[in-house]
Amino acid sequence: DAAALQGLRQGRLRIAAVTTTEYFLPDLLGPFARQYPGIRIELAVENRDAVVARLERGDDELAAMMRPPTHLPLARWPFLENPLVFIAALDHPLAARRRLRLQDLVDQPLLVRETGSGTRAVLEEALAERGINWAPRMALGSNEAVKHAVRAGLGLALLSRHTLAAEPAGEGLAVLPVAGFPLRRQWVLVWRQDRALSLPARTLLDDLRARLRVRAVPR
Ligand code: PGA
Repeated sequence: DAAALQGLRQGRLRIAAVTTTEYFLPDLLGPFARQYPGIRIELAVENRDAVVARLERGDDELAAMMRPPTHLPLARWPFLENPLVFIAALDHPLAARRRLRLQDLVDQPLLVRETGSGTRAVLEEALAERGINWAPRMALGSNEAVKHAVRAGLGLALLSRHTLAAEPAGEGLAVLPVAGFPLRRQWVLVWRQDRALSLPARTLLDDLRARLRVRAVPR
C-alpha cells in the first residue's frame, strides 16, 4: 500500500555488524542500497560485545555476528561461513612448513584481538577445549592492527579468513596449515523477535535471502 511504499522511498535502517564482517557486508548491502536510494542505511561496526550491548538497547533492527547472545529473544538466520585461520608473516619459519599441529605454534608470541571480540572468544574457547595454555603476548583493537603486527613479525594470530586478501602472500601474510583448522564458524543475521521489523529491514532480509541462497547451494 501507499504507506508501505513510502516507507521504502524514504526511511532509515540501522544495522550493527561485528568488525570482521566489514570486509564483505557493504558489498552484500550494495544491491539493496542501489534499489532503495531513499533509505538511509546506518551500519555500526563494533566488536561482538558492543554489538550485543546495542541489541540489548534495541539500537539496531538487524545485527550480523558470529555468536548471538542467548539471553535476548532473537530470530536468527545463518548467512555465511566464517573460517578462522592462523596466520604468520610470510617470512616466518613456520610459514614454510607443509603441516603443523597447534602444539608447534605455542612457543611463538600470540597476538589477539581486544577483550569483547568474538574472534578472541572463539580462540580462547578452542585453546581451552584442547587443554592448551597459550597466553597472549599482545592485544590489538582491530583486525587490521593484528594483521600489521603479524606482518611485522611480532607473532601469530587467529583471524577470520575473510579479513585476508584472496592471496594473503600479497599482503605479506601466510595462512598456516594447522591440523584441525580452519575453525568453521558461521555468521548469523539476528533481529529481536519482541519488536516488529520495519519494511526496510524486511525488504533487506528478503533481498539477502534471495541472493545468498543461490550462493549457498553448491556447498
Ligand atoms: P569480532 O567479530 O571479533 O570483531 O567481535 C567476531 C564475530 O564474528 O562475532
